[in-house]
Amino acid sequence: MNIVLLGFMGTGKTVIGKLLAAKLKMRYIDIDEEIEKEEKSTISRIFSRLGEEHFRSLEKKKVAEISQGDNQVISSGGGVVLNPENIKNLERDGVLFCLEAAPEVIFERTRRYTHRPLLETAGPQKAIEALLRKRSGYYQKIKNHIDTSDLNPEEVAQKVIRIYRENKKNKPQMDTG
Ligand code: S3P
Repeated sequence: MNIVLLGFMGTGKTVIGKLLAAKLKMRYIDIDEEIEKEEKSTISRIFSRLGEEHFRSLEKKKVAEISQGDNQVISSGGGVVLNPENIKNLERDGVLFCLEAAPEVIFERTRRYTHRPLLETAGPQKAIEALLRKRSGYYQKIKNHIDTSDLNPEEVAQKVIRIYRENKKNKPQMDTG
């Protein structure tokens, strides 16, 4: 069974995902990295040259492909939740987690990096707040939520592992019910 990390940019998906994979001896997969490898391009370049809609279709294809695998920690881009088909694919053999953080924490964590096209605006703080508002309904639909604002990666990983193990234990019953 896979562990799937969803949630807004800057909520810790990459850091926590790598830590979880190392701890549980699972394969770490980053959907954005896989898209970049396949397209031989960067996410920023895909957005600027081909547009967000094109990126979303590449993302959908990659999610469907990666969802087939097992024993993986999957870190997804913040917009994966926008397409219900992605969630359906990931849920088939995965425990889904939505990582969360306060807008000001997200701003602090993302301000040093320039690889996020949706935040490359004159007002990234406003962009974060507006996107969070727009997406909150999508994130709320995810079963497990962990606020990473005041936790260190180790603490977040422990919470994920506990819930993942509970789900794994209960899986056979869930399948027959
Ligand atoms: C996006 C988040 C990014 C990346 C792309 C779009 C989003 O991933 O997929 O820039 O729509 O929230 P991270 O959440 O890993 O930064």
